[in-house]
This record gives sequence, C-alpha cells and structure tokens, in this order.
Amino acid sequence: MILKGKKVVLRTIRLSDAGRFVKWLNDPEIHKFLQIRKRLTLRQEKKIIAGFLKQKNKNNFAIETKEGIHIGSVSLDVNKDHNHAVFGIFIGEKNYWNQGLGSEASRLILNFGFKKLKLHRIELGVLEYNPRAIKVYKRLGFKREGIKREYIKFQGKYFDNFHMSILDREWKQRYKK
Ligand SMILES: CC(C)(COP(=O)(O)OP(=O)(O)OC[C@H]1O[C@@H](n2cnc3c(N)ncnc32)[C@H](O)[C@@H]1OP(=O)(O)O)[C@@H](O)C(=O)NCCC(=O)NCCS
Repeated sequence: MILKGKKVVLRTIRLSDAGRFVKWLNDPEIHKFLQIRKRLTLRQEKKIIAGFLKQKNKNNFAIETKEGIHIGSVSLDVNKDHNHAVFGIFIGEKNYWNQGLGSEASRLILNFGFKKLKLHRIELGVLEYNPRAIKVYKRLGFKREGIKREYIKFQGKYFDNFHMSILDREWKQRYKK
C-alpha cells in the first residue's frame, strides 16, 4: 500500500528495511523518545517485521522522502472491536527532523485511519521531555487526556508519559474533506 503526500510517501514496510530499523532503534538519541529500551538485533527485527506483515491490524508504513530515501516509520495498531488504534512514529534519519516530514506523515496515516479504516479514535503516548513530538501532535488536533506519572526511567530519573487522543469527528471538523 502507498500513501502519497507532498514531501513524503508512506509504503508498507518490508523485511529488507530491518537493517535500518536496527540502526535507528539502537541509536540513543532516538530510543530515548520511545518506550523500547531493549537493544535489538537484526534477527529480532526481521522477526518483528515478519510478524507485523502477517497481522492485518498492524498498519506499519515506512516513511520515504520524495526521492525514495527511507527515513523512518509510522504506524496504527488497530483494535477492530472498538474501532480505535494506537499511533506511533519516528524519523530515524536525524538530518530530516524539523522539516515538516513528521507532521505530513502523521497527517497521511491519520487520514487513512479515519477515512479508510473508519476508526473512531486514535491515541498515543509521548514522553514529557519530547516537546517536538508534542508540538506535532497538538498541531494535528490531538488532545491531552491524561498523564501516567513518573512512568519512564531515563538516566536514573522518572518522567511522565502524556496520553493524547483524537476522535473521528474532531479530525473531520479539522480537515473538512
Ligand atoms: C517527533 C518527530 C516524528 C517529528 O517529526 P519532524 O519531521 O521532526 O517534525 P516537524 O518538522 O513536522 O515538526 C516539528 C515541530 O517542532 C518544532 N520543534 C523542534 N524542536 C522543538 C523543541 N525542542 N521544542 C518545541 N518545538 C520544537 C519544530 O520547529 C517544528 O515546528 P514548526 O513546524 O512550527 O517549525 C521526529 O522528530 C522524530 O522522529 N523524533 C525522534 C523520535 C520521536 O520522538 N518519536 C515520537 C515518539 S512519541
């Protein structure tokens, strides 16, 4: 599957992406923003991708630039019983941060979630020390709905995890299309 924007293209992840995921997810500057703390091997990552590809509810897309450079990943983990999903994103190639690519990739997958998958609600968790991601999520219309206090341990200290969500009617209101 392909979702096209102005700056990025989302495509289904592939087993051959595994090497890049391992490099990115083992980078301390990236995994400090994620909840994964375990170091991954190539073998483990290939197994994870193979698992995702088998499960219909795991909508995992590679984020590529217009030039076809794979720079990260965005996902919607859907619970069909309740029509909700958990959203996740990271851009692993750090020189592509702060250029609007994450905002566009997020907008594309949210649109896919609400319009194609007919989801009712999309939620996420974000660490308190990630103001860049929080800015992107607020811009898209996510609302803060709760805090898991001192949830994550990072460099010997505990940090809050903010919970945010957006409902289909809020999305449609925002992006009347
Ligand atoms: C979070 C992430 C997906 C955002 O993607 P991106 O392409 O870098 O974001 P965008 O360029 O679309 O928007 C970032 C905005 O935050 C702003 N920003 C950057 N650093 C900031 C900071 N320290 N404080 C506040 N705002 C900040 C940018 O200026 C930009 O705003 P603008 O468009 O008004 O100028 C990406 O940076 C990333 O993958 N980071 C590492 C992993 C991660 O944090 N994943 C999310 C886990 S919840």
